Amino acid sequence: MQVQNQNYRTIWPNTRLKSVHIIDQTLLPHQFCIAEIHTLQEMIRAIKTMQVRGAPLIGAAAAYGLALASSVDISENDAQSNVYLQQAGNDLINSRPTAVNLQWAVNRMLSTLLDLPLIKRNMAAWKEAAAICEEDVKQNQAIGQHGLALIKILAGKYLVSTCNSLNSKPLNILTHCNAGWLATVDFGTALAPIYAAHDAGISVHVWVDETRPRNQGVALTAWELAQHGVPHTVISDNAGGHLMQHGSVDMVLVGADRVTSTGDVCNKIGTYLKALAAFDNNIPFYAAVPSPTIDWTIQDGLKEIEIEERSAHEVTYMTGKLASGEIAEINILPPDNLTVKTQVANPAFDVTPARLVTGIIIQHGIYAPSELINLKFSS
Ligand code: MRU
Repeated sequence: MQVQNQNYRTIWPNTRLKSVHIIDQTLLPHQFCIAEIHTLQEMIRAIKTMQVRGAPLIGAAAAYGLALASSVDISENDAQSNVYLQQAGNDLINSRPTAVNLQWAVNRMLSTLLDLPLIKRNMAAWKEAAAICEEDVKQNQAIGQHGLALIKILAGKYLVSTCNSLNSKPLNILTHCNAGWLATVDFGTALAPIYAAHDAGISVHVWVDETRPRNQGVALTAWELAQHGVPHTVISDNAGGHLMQHGSVDMVLVGADRVTSTGDVCNKIGTYLKALAAFDNNIPFYAAVPSPTIDWTIQDGLKEIEIEERSAHEVTYMTGKLASGEIAEINILPPDNLTVKTQVANPAFDVTPARLVTGIIIQHGIYAPSELINLKFSS
């Protein structure tokens, strides 16, 4: 992805393999800053505070977290190092519970490292983390191409049904949260097909849900789309259903943090409501995910996926830029000296049952949710 005419990925190691660079996503869209992560603890903090976020990216970050941990592994033998690395892996897994990519990346790193003698572990860790990143990029590019084919079909259908001439009206795609290049190492999942379509000259317009409480839609997705030149409109989280009822949405396309083997889609809180509205209005609802986002061990998303409960602070306060240019945080709750103190809850994800999902776009192709169980891709 290009920012100010320079190519960036969201995460990369420094050349001497002593630290890892990330784009600090807590500062966007107002400031574009690169942060340097030196230790496992700093990486865990970056994941928890969402300096890095998005399912594939936190997987990559966890992999580099283990590489950083292995750089300071002072164990005297393999067995001691096993305990040390397993603890580091557990600490990373516990930093955010919902996106399965984090566990997937930690398990992959550990299964590579624990088989090796101590002396070989550090170099192998940096190599494996880099491989995870490269694979993510390739998977997202493939998702982009499969999604592009789908967008072409939907755009064609739309043209026939409205007898419009080519490109006179764009294909309107609604997305929720940020499943763009910022949520991955590069290219994005749900936004990859949109970028591919835009680059291929297909007229697309994106409805961007603001995505309270952390505003990933307005702060990250709109910023990315604006950088790339894709026409888009930010809407409040409650506007999507109304737009669907009035024929202004042709497709819903989201990412996911975990998909069950039966096709239930767990994604940012509010996705389920969009899926319900899409179903009611006969609008196709797709999730775009690389295979590490599929949890083949579970079948019931509602019962088996732990939904992260985040701090009340995220709901209570909003951050933005004042007219003076200063970035400020403001409290939006009633004062707490009234008869009853206002309580706040902040579940960060929800589950869209497979019956509401038209299809899942994976790097291998596009599948009905019910087809997943028979596929079980290993990568
Ligand atoms: O809490 P976040 O910002 O990490 O949540 C991210 C999402 O829900 C994304 O939609 C999802 O990870 C898909 S990312 C390709």
